[in-house]
Amino acid sequence: MNTLDLEIQSLTHKHLSALLQLDQACFGGLWTLDAYERELDSPNTFLLGSINPNSLDLSGMGCFWSILDEAHITILAVHPQYQNQGLGQALLFSLLKTAYEQGLERATLEVRPSNVGAITLYQKFGFKTAGRRRRYYKDNDEDALILWLGDIQTPQFNRTLDVWLDTIKTRLYKSGWNLTFPK
Ligand SMILES: CC(C)(COP(=O)(O)OP(=O)(O)OC[C@H]1O[C@@H](n2cnc3c(N)ncnc32)[C@H](O)[C@@H]1OP(=O)(O)O)[C@@H](O)C(=O)NCCC(=O)NCCS
Repeated sequence: MNTLDLEIQSLTHKHLSALLQLDQACFGGLWTLDAYERELDSPNTFLLGSINPNSLDLSGMGCFWSILDEAHITILAVHPQYQNQGLGQALLFSLLKTAYEQGLERATLEVRPSNVGAITLYQKFGFKTAGRRRRYYKDNDEDALILWLGDIQTPQFNRTLDVWLDTIKTRLYKSGWNLTFPK
């Protein structure tokens, strides 16, 4: 089977215009150029992308802020053209792996109750609903669900990451992607 290489990389300023295009395609303009520049400059931000190393096409991104011992996931997005191929779970895996490597204890995020696809994805990785922020999203006054994943800093979680990686690679391969991590 012919596959395309896919790398999960830490993003840098050279990816700024690709980030803005992806943001536009996924959210219609959630963060500005300034906002992405601030994220890239912040030592507490981890911004990862899924990239075809040959075409340099940025197909997805994931971001978390390291706050005390918590990973606050602020963005997870896959370009509509590449959704349902396993990229979202590869990015979420990479965020959680990075959080583990950074010594963080738990991860959290907010999600719209109407975003069933994203919620299903987070639940697959063990996230549980812990509360609700009323009228959190200003565009339509929708509440936010607050999801948490605990016990990241355990040998058990490290083993779980290994199991997930195998599953994720297999799923991506079926969609024509060969996942690698740059050294
Ligand atoms: C949410 C998002 C990142 C998922 O990315 P993706 O690459 O399509 O997801 P994957 O292909 O890796 O799917 C992984 C799993 O998530 C779940 N899932 C993903 N999309 C789904 C959908 N539309 N409906 C139901 N389950 C879905 C499934 O369990 C899927 O596994 P399966 O295909 O083996 O059943 C993507 O849909 C997206 O970018 N949406 C717009 C931005 C957004 O809403 N981000 C989340 C903000 S909190």
